[in-house]
Amino acid sequence: MQLSNATVLVTGANRGIGLAFARAALARGARRVYAAARDPSRIQLPGVLPIQLDVTDPDQVSRAVHDCRDVSVLVNNAGVAETGGFLQDPTLQATRRQLEVNFFGMLRMAQGFAPVLAANGGGAMLNVLSIASWLNRPLLGTYGATKSAAWALTNGLRHELRVQGTQVTALHMGFVDTDLARGIEMPKSTPDAIVAAALDGLEAGQEEVLADELTRQVKQSLSSAAAAYLAAA
Ligand SMILES: NC(=O)c1ccc[n+]([C@@H]2O[C@H](COP(=O)([O-])OP(=O)(O)OC[C@H]3O[C@@H](n4cnc5c(N)ncnc54)[C@H](OP(=O)(O)O)[C@@H]3O)[C@@H](O)[C@H]2O)c1
Repeated sequence: MQLSNATVLVTGANRGIGLAFARAALARGARRVYAAARDPSRIQLPGVLPIQLDVTDPDQVSRAVHDCRDVSVLVNNAGVAETGGFLQDPTLQATRRQLEVNFFGMLRMAQGFAPVLAANGGGAMLNVLSIASWLNRPLLGTYGATKSAAWALTNGLRHELRVQGTQVTALHMGFVDTDLARGIEMPKSTPDAIVAAALDGLEAGQEEVLADELTRQVKQSLSSAAAAYLAAA
């Protein structure tokens, strides 16, 4: 799937990795980039079309589907993270809040835009996941569960969308230097580096992009007796 002349919609495009996706899509020659944000007045990037889109709001998703009939590449980037494991008091509410964006938001967008992508020749869907799809530690335990769920969703969508010629690409990575990871003292990639790897993979037809070395090591370990998710932190 080439970005040149594509029409791209990026969720959560006002900051962080989503902003980097919008900028890179323009740089790679996209004909039109819809920069979706809960508050579109926060989109400052020249050359994009800001739209209002809270992925947890079915009416706003329906309106985006109605207004953006030319989308050929959907980047499901919007996400939230709350720190904490499974045995703390507000866990149920925190898990539901994150599932609402990271899983149900992605599902709602996929359901809404699947017919749009089909009408535009198949196109592509790029789902922003995480190393936390495969690695669950108390720091981001409930968040990890939502990313594991979104990974399963992505894997299922890939098969369901194959019949209409839609490429589904999953993006996994470790920490990235954005607001989401602020205060976490770990090595971080830049948003630009992650997005470059993601879009190189998308354009090369890859179904899975492992955007940094740690993520490649964790994925590699999954089938071994010493799988990374078993190791004590
Ligand atoms: N940063 C990392 O270390 C890291 C690592 C792996 C994966 N990821 C994933 O990368 C994606 C982008 O994260 P980021 O690091 O760029 O985080 P970020 O800087 O916190 O940005 C998150 C974006 O998602 C938007 N968003 C949140 N809830 C939304 C909703 N209900 N509807 C629409 N948009 C919503 C935010 O909008 P507002 O500005 O309105 O809040 C913001 O634009 C997420 O899916 C995240 O899970 C991040």
